[in-house]
Amino acid sequence: MNETLKIIENRKSLRTYSPQLLSSKDKELIVHSAMRAPTAGNMMHYSMIEVADQEKKERLVQTCDNQPFIAKAPFVLLFLADLQRWYSLFQYSGVPEYCKSHNEEYMTPQESDLLLACCDALIAAENAVIGAEALGIGSCYIGDIMENIEIHREMFNLPKWVFPITLLCFGYSKREISSRKTTNRFPKDFVYFKDTYDPKSSQEFEKVLVDQYKIKSNNFLKGAQNIGQHVYLRKTGSDYAAEMRRSVKVALRDWLKTE
Ligand SMILES: Cc1cc2nc3c(=O)[nH]c(=O)nc-3n(C[C@H](O)[C@H](O)[C@H](O)COP(=O)(O)O)c2cc1C
Repeated sequence: MNETLKIIENRKSLRTYSPQLLSSKDKELIVHSAMRAPTAGNMMHYSMIEVADQEKKERLVQTCDNQPFIAKAPFVLLFLADLQRWYSLFQYSGVPEYCKSHNEEYMTPQESDLLLACCDALIAAENAVIGAEALGIGSCYIGDIMENIEIHREMFNLPKWVFPITLLCFGYSKREISSRKTTNRFPKDFVYFKDTYDPKSSQEFEKVLVDQYKIKSNNFLKGAQNIGQHVYLRKTGSDYAAEMRRSVKVALRDWLKTE
């Protein structure tokens, strides 16, 4: 198989790292891979912060839903959806005054800009993941970085139009990466449609969740009666999801606040 496709096929999230550090050259190659990603209008509405400080990593363990492996990752990159860079330029360049004198509406970043910036940041992040895999370095996304927005803003000195969309932990595996099994996915007919959306029936879901996700009826949480109720409790109804909802609502409200 083609080498790139092999890397994509065999990638798995890595959460246990060997103590081996990444060389500066490899870190540089990972950051460069991120920066070569496609970006909307070539505006690069994202930034990265390397979290090198061990105390900050330890803090992230707590603020990202108690995930101890974050502190053990030798290379940690925070990906930010970043409208601040362009907005600052517009301010420096007197765009608000220009708009006023030319009867143009001056727009500060809106919801659409945030979504586009999140696209840029996540596409860059995935390029970093694939670049790292090509160097034999594993990784894991931490979506919980969207929680505790107030703390993360303070920790990383984030300005108003910067939103932390994902964190990536990188490191070498303790054992041969190829010996680990890749995780199952929904079958293709659940995620790939032609020309029109195809909603699935309850029976189709049930079969897939038992076959692919290996959920057993004797493992249901808190008296759940079926797989749907169980998955809801584990994911959407969980404490971490509640904190993420709260935190993102705060971030969105602040994003849209006019000064
Ligand atoms: C946006 C995003 C957020 C994620 N957040 C976490 C996380 O906080 N903690 C974690 O251990 N894994 C996290 N993951 C990794 C997923 O759990 C993992 O990709 C999924 O279970 C599939 O496994 P695989 O990557 O090995 O194929 C995240 C992945 C993505 C794409």
